Amino acid sequence: MITKNIELARDILMQDGIVAIPTETVYGLAGNAFSETAVKQIFGLKKRPFFNPLILHIKSMESLHSVVKEIPETALKLASRFWPGALTLVLKKQAHISDLVTSGMDTVAVRVPNHPAALELLAQLDFPLAAPSANPFGSISPTSAQHVHHYFKETLSIILDGGVCEKGIESTIIGFENDEPILYRHGAISIEEIEKVVGKIKIVTENSENPKAPGMLSRHYAPNTETHLVTNISESIKSYKSKKVGVLLFKENSQLQNCLFQEVLSNTGDFEEAARNVYAALHKLDQSDMDIILIEKLPDIGIGKSINDRLIRAVKKE
Ligand code: TXA
Ligand code: MG
Repeated sequence: MITKNIELARDILMQDGIVAIPTETVYGLAGNAFSETAVKQIFGLKKRPFFNPLILHIKSMESLHSVVKEIPETALKLASRFWPGALTLVLKKQAHISDLVTSGMDTVAVRVPNHPAALELLAQLDFPLAAPSANPFGSISPTSAQHVHHYFKETLSIILDGGVCEKGIESTIIGFENDEPILYRHGAISIEEIEKVVGKIKIVTENSENPKAPGMLSRHYAPNTETHLVTNISESIKSYKSKKVGVLLFKENSQLQNCLFQEVLSNTGDFEEAARNVYAALHKLDQSDMDIILIEKLPDIGIGKSINDRLIRAVKKE
């Protein structure tokens, strides 16, 4: 059921049930982070391997101390600058945070989401919400209640509708080594924004084997349709003359006017607008019965870099 009823969502969560919730980045599949029953259900619904840890969603900066310890100064600086918002911090966990949530690691990922419905819901609960993105493991993330419904109509009793996600791609993840911040996942807050607060930072995202960023699996956010990422769509499309080709463009391209199925992320070339639209465009293309999807790479700056990160993983072979 798709509903705007926050009290209903609260009641289900208080009984160890699972609710899809809106956030400003993507929809999450939320449950009581302190309940083993709830956390197990999240992994089950998502078909997510247990080695891939979850993010805790807390109601405010004040709640941070109840889930983590040894908070570096730079972490506090980042949290006060970006929370509520699309920044996830990976910090040393308190002993009571379950190994199930953290996949056995001694750190836990935490953020305060910036969405009125999520914040109102959290305010009514006395536990954090563990919530991965509300898509089956490896699939395109959901940015609307309808996307979640498409994936989980058979298995999820309630989806809290908070409209279309304002940011459209997941949070930026920052961890710490010897109190130095490290970027684990590019996301809705650009690295340039982060560096304005903490100076130049190390990036450790690329490698799926890297135990520090276990969720950075090479193939992720993937359509079911065969998909390629290219730098020049007008050229590449010539190789697929006999096929039904859908294209995903950053900006409009007059050379492709004859191409029947195209999604344009931003007419004006605005990165934030492109981020907001990218998953919806992928969902649409994937459901439009094309033989091939061709995606144009964005300029590799600002949020463009984060969008490219997702697109690269969307086309990776298993
Ligand atoms: O914007 C978001 O972050 C969304 C919304 C719902 O908040 N959530 C989200 O969750 O993207 P998920 O589960 O799809 O991605 C969480 C990422 C995974 O890559 C996971 O490996 C990483 O966070 N992660 C969680 N705990 C970690 C830890 N202790 N150390 C390193 N990475 C961690
Ligand atoms: Mg995800």
